[in-house]
Amino acid sequence: PSVQSPLYRPPLLRFYSSTAITRDRYGDNMFDIFKLEIARGLSAISGVDQDTLFNALDAPKVAAHGDLAIAVPRLRLKGNPVALAKEWVEKFEPNEYVLKASCIGPFINFSISHTHLCKLVLTEVFERKENFGTNTTHKGKRAIVEFSSPNIAKPFHAGHLRSTIIGNFVRNVLQANGWETIAMNYLGDWGKQYGLLAIGFERYGSKEALQADPIHHLYEVYVQVNKAAEQDPAIHDDARAYFKKMEDGDQDALQLWQEFRDMSIVKYKETYTRLNINFDVYSGESQVTYGMQRALESLDEKGLIKESEGARIIDLDEKYKLGKAVLQKKDGTTLYLTRDIGAAMERWDKYHFDAIYYIIGSQQDQHVKQLFKILHLLDLPYADRFHHINFGLVSGMSTRKGTAVFLQDMLEQTKERMHEVMRANEEKYAQIDDPEHVADIIGMSAITVQDMAARRIRNYDFDWQRMFSFEGDTGPYLQYAHARLFSVERNAEMPVELDVDLSLLQEPAAQQIVEHIAKYPALVASLPANFEPVNVITYALKLSHLVSSAYESLRVRGAPREVGQARLLLYWAARMTLGNALRLVGLVPLERM
Ligand code: ARG
Repeated sequence: PSVQSPLYRPPLLRFYSSTAITRDRYGDNMFDIFKLEIARGLSAISGVDQDTLFNALDAPKVAAHGDLAIAVPRLRLKGNPVALAKEWVEKFEPNEYVLKASCIGPFINFSISHTHLCKLVLTEVFERKENFGTNTTHKGKRAIVEFSSPNIAKPFHAGHLRSTIIGNFVRNVLQANGWETIAMNYLGDWGKQYGLLAIGFERYGSKEALQADPIHHLYEVYVQVNKAAEQDPAIHDDARAYFKKMEDGDQDALQLWQEFRDMSIVKYKETYTRLNINFDVYSGESQVTYGMQRALESLDEKGLIKESEGARIIDLDEKYKLGKAVLQKKDGTTLYLTRDIGAAMERWDKYHFDAIYYIIGSQQDQHVKQLFKILHLLDLPYADRFHHINFGLVSGMSTRKGTAVFLQDMLEQTKERMHEVMRANEEKYAQIDDPEHVADIIGMSAITVQDMAARRIRNYDFDWQRMFSFEGDTGPYLQYAHARLFSVERNAEMPVELDVDLSLLQEPAAQQIVEHIAKYPALVASLPANFEPVNVITYALKLSHLVSSAYESLRVRGAPREVGQARLLLYWAARMTLGNALRLVGLVPLERM
């Protein structure tokens, strides 16, 4: 159980010991505590069991009618629902949780104690701070989250950026729900394109340029050699032959490849650090060893492998409509899919995960379906633990023609732009300790939030305007909302305390904020159902809007001391919750901007 508040533990214990409903089942939604109270009271009156009543409680259609409502006909009882509603309401005794019950026809409406809700919510935030909203539901379970996974021979494109941002979110969500996580980067560091890159490097490469800026330089080589190969297809044969040498363990071939790989990883790590992301494991296609052979043999034993012009293929078309897939070429070299199958088996041997998430764009849906199907055909007992989290395309960024926008450059440009906006306000600018760093964080927030503005699967067009926008529902706006809440605390000239008179928070604006904060733990618990970052963004925006419209009427400075103290606690809890939501999507909440 995540609630430790002495303020409400006694009533809960009294209650839970007498019923089948437990905090573990309903603990994440703070309104559930009120539902439980109502269900208990009504059950005693009506004889209907508490679970049924609990599940029938909902928000009323008209908010003015109350906070929770029950439609008696939904219970399918004998007797006249209107008469029952009337009888129950007459017998229902108000208590510290539920202030009032009333009925309109067969509907019963309940008004809860907002002071009590305030107490529950603010105590919970005060005690748990950065952990407010998290739960331990999946404690003891381990998940691998494989994300980002760029290709060393090709540029880091928008698909990789999305995988990085969404993957980091998936990881945070799992952790917030009690999972142990392993963040894995599965580099595209093997395959024919390394042959091509190596040949390109012999022709156009320079060791100095590689040293200075491996990612851009390898990209230049990549573009040049692709152009050359368009004129001269023989280059592709050379590339295949080169890759064959690599697979056969040729030392010279492997050494150049190792250099490309090592230097690129160093650069990627810098960028990930900037994005506030840390990988536990840098794996990659090149690291797959015995799994491929084992998989091929096992598939062969099951009669699933066919020979076709010297290649070994698996037919997933006839039964599953997933096409035919080559697993081994006629020269004996392996493919992307083969390596993925081998990697899956080796990961299991090494980590014994309860779940593994692949964060890969929807262009590869077919590939992932083939992979998962093959894992099932292999009869692996853990085949159900594989999950694909996909996402839509970003158009308007091409890599082959050399017009790619690199992640480093995107971060740099966005940061520059944010820096300009900040400089426009000289007075504020002067108060910021490290403006470059702050600009960088705002830039990242912009990139992240524009990516999370819609459901994952939606495509969007790449557009600098989208990245640079400071106004509206954007990353910079959320950071601004957070920093402004911080300034309330700085200017308050008194400490944040829990021991305040919460009955002073009766204004609708205050109650709305409290109710929204109360929903945060349930939001966190709901995220693993679909891993939609937009749900967190929507939540954070709404909290920001509620707070921003409360400032005018709920002043801290200038209000009587007790009132100011209660409001300060409220703003503080809003700041904490907004900060937690921002951290959940991978951002670093700012104190000033
Ligand atoms: N490197 C691949 C690409 O850039 C993505 C790898 C995704 N992960 C996987 N296990 N296949 O397209």
